[in-house]
Amino acid sequence: MVTIIENIGLLWGISPTLPTRLQGEEMRSLGKLHNCWLSIEDDYISGYGEGTPPAAADLRIDARGGAIIPAFCDSHTHIIFAGTREREFEDKISGLSYEEIARRGGGILNSAARVQKASEQELFEASSERLARMVADGTGSIEIKSGYGLTLEAELKMLRTAARLAESSPATIKTTFLCAHALPVEYRGRADEYVAMVCREWIPAVAAEGLAEFVDLFCEQGFFTTDHAARVMEAGAKHGLRAKIHANQLAFSGGVQAGVKGGALSVDHLESSGPAEIEALLGTATMPTLLPSAAFFLRAPYPPAREMIDSGLGVALATDYNPGTSPSGYMPLVLTMATVGMRMMPEEALAAATINGAYAMGLHDRGTISVGARADLALLRPMDSVAYLPYSFGENCIQGMILGGKPIV
Ligand code: NIG
Ligand code: FE
Repeated sequence: MVTIIENIGLLWGISPTLPTRLQGEEMRSLGKLHNCWLSIEDDYISGYGEGTPPAAADLRIDARGGAIIPAFCDSHTHIIFAGTREREFEDKISGLSYEEIARRGGGILNSAARVQKASEQELFEASSERLARMVADGTGSIEIKSGYGLTLEAELKMLRTAARLAESSPATIKTTFLCAHALPVEYRGRADEYVAMVCREWIPAVAAEGLAEFVDLFCEQGFFTTDHAARVMEAGAKHGLRAKIHANQLAFSGGVQAGVKGGALSVDHLESSGPAEIEALLGTATMPTLLPSAAFFLRAPYPPAREMIDSGLGVALATDYNPGTSPSGYMPLVLTMATVGMRMMPEEALAAATINGAYAMGLHDRGTISVGARADLALLRPMDSVAYLPYSFGENCIQGMILGGKPIV
């Protein structure tokens, strides 16, 4: 099946060879073409160019002068949850901190109680709706974490829900077992014991069912330590689960260094980072993944994206969609926060939200416009440059989605 998209006003994200990730100055290296076409054979991009498009095609799509970019690759989300947390939102506005809310039994424990009570069907319906909205808003690949179960049974329920989402959605789903997110009340003061049980029983159980590809923990002051991180990463590696870890969101936790040492594919958040964290990441395969909407929502300082990129690092951007710290899966707004809040240039932000996000999920055939890349594309309104996307914040610029070569919306 050959599909031709014609009358493309701007095609952005071109790389003559399929890159794995972009670092430092390379983040501005993706190319563009004006007034062009793109061809798709089966699920993959087979060509693009200026001038007259090839005549033979099974399907022709008229882009009507709009722009085309690779679909977003959102590499860090918690979209499976039951119920929202506006009450805590109000508490935060009134002055309580995230840690104070968590200590009172709010936060992750609040969501965990609701996930434990919800049926798998209820979780599936609520998260399918979130996922469908994200796809309509430009996202083609998404990582989904468990972590609101806090019992093996409820974690498995979340992971099975993710598997059902993967089957039913046109988006590509990667699943992460977030095995140590918060300490259940009955384990207060016994975090070591909890982590030992997770490593001994839960990680093998999840791996045996093939329900996750990655393992994660909340390596953070007041939650889990770097020592716990090392144990979880080791147990994950033994069962074929690579680590993607939450690090340095609330404080300098040593989580970045622990993640690099344990061979994590990504270390995520990084609001509390400085030269030592940048140094630890340079020359490694670990992708720093920045979640500016979570920093915005907690009124926390943004991570030092500019310093990271200027030091030669690549960064990825993701939404962290979750009911507590980032109740939004809207990638265009993340681009605005990355540019305005973190001083990333628009093209750097787009590379971080596409090709580098794909890398942070272990996906190596998407996130760019390249021959051989999966045809996961977002069709945007006409624009002279992709800078219009973060610039026009709040405007919905997405006019259509093509995933695996097929028009979705
Ligand atoms: O990535 N901080 C850990 N997990 C989420 C927040 C979870 C919650 O508050 O429900 C995050 O920000
Ligand atoms: Fe998160």
